[in-house]
Amino acid sequence: MIYSRIVGTGTYLPEKVLTNHDLEAMVDTTDQWIRERTGISKRHIAADGETTCDLAEKASRRAIEAAGKSVSDIDLIVVATTTPDQVFPSTACLLQSRLDIHGPAAFDVQAVCTGFIYAMGVTDSLIKSGSARCALVVGAETFSRILNWQDRTTCVLFGDGAGAVVLEASEEPGIRSTHMHADGAYAGLLQVSGGVSNGYDELREATAFVEMRGAEVFKMAVNTLGRIVDETLAYNDLEKSDIDWLIPHQANIRIIHATARKLRMSMDQVVVTVGEHGNTSSASVPMALDTAVRDGRIKRGETLLMEAFGGGFTWGSVLATY
Ligand code: UT7
Repeated sequence: MIYSRIVGTGTYLPEKVLTNHDLEAMVDTTDQWIRERTGISKRHIAADGETTCDLAEKASRRAIEAAGKSVSDIDLIVVATTTPDQVFPSTACLLQSRLDIHGPAAFDVQAVCTGFIYAMGVTDSLIKSGSARCALVVGAETFSRILNWQDRTTCVLFGDGAGAVVLEASEEPGIRSTHMHADGAYAGLLQVSGGVSNGYDELREATAFVEMRGAEVFKMAVNTLGRIVDETLAYNDLEKSDIDWLIPHQANIRIIHATARKLRMSMDQVVVTVGEHGNTSSASVPMALDTAVRDGRIKRGETLLMEAFGGGFTWGSVLATY
């Protein structure tokens, strides 16, 4: 049996920090409201000219170094992003060129906040089938570029960042299961309605910015994440108590608390980084994983449950032995 094993992780956050107090001067909000309703204190914002690929490259180099690999070992690159540098080539191809890798497949996955979970699912299948042996899986976003900075209901929530993981084929587990779902019927609750083919035209309500019906998304996220946790445990014939670490998508501390309660997990077993960088969409799960690997909380042999929910709607999970 071939498993995909996590052998290295890395993070990059842009230098510029935007605090809740900074936002108080920009929109009608307060530090107290943002912290109480979301758990967010600050977010990082890419500098002018700094792109998703720039963030992805820095996180990737850290992950490759942590894995003890060199770029020549990488034989597949999958980038999850909703904020690619260009329409094409894919950010994965741009990243491949930056890393001076030539030949192996490189492509993007677009599942918004669930993007990294999807990227892990696809990569795991390619490793298990023998198509790849050492893959770079990245979640990278510059969401600041698609925010309406006058809309207090969205601009306080998101930030920029990148997380990366090196997955290697191994006889030892490894990823034990991946679960991916979507229901496009909910597209209108969380979207950027404009785009290349649809165009940008505010009269037709096709804008370049994130629009979200927050309270409805919140309820769906809590219920759906509860179900994905049950599905993942049942598939692996595991009890709630078998999970050592929950590594959730970092959108809102109240959603994270709800999922932890569902798992009857103490918050000591939940990796929480949302306060430090807000919702970074596809980058949030790999950055949280990297944080807890580097600070020594997550140890080899422990069981990790990663999950996410996002626009689409999309949702999913990865169960892995670290
Ligand atoms: O990652 C993809 C998935 N995305 C999510 O999971 C996000 C899900 N949604 C959420 O996290 C929450 O719904 C929000 C944080 C977006 C909003 O929290 P909420 O507790 O659902 O608040 P609400 O939207 O029901 O708004 C409550 C009040 C409203 O005022 P009224 O109508 O009660 O007078 C809003 O206008 O809070 C007001 N409000 C704000 N006040 C200060 C909304 N945004 C702000 C703000 N500052 N930034």
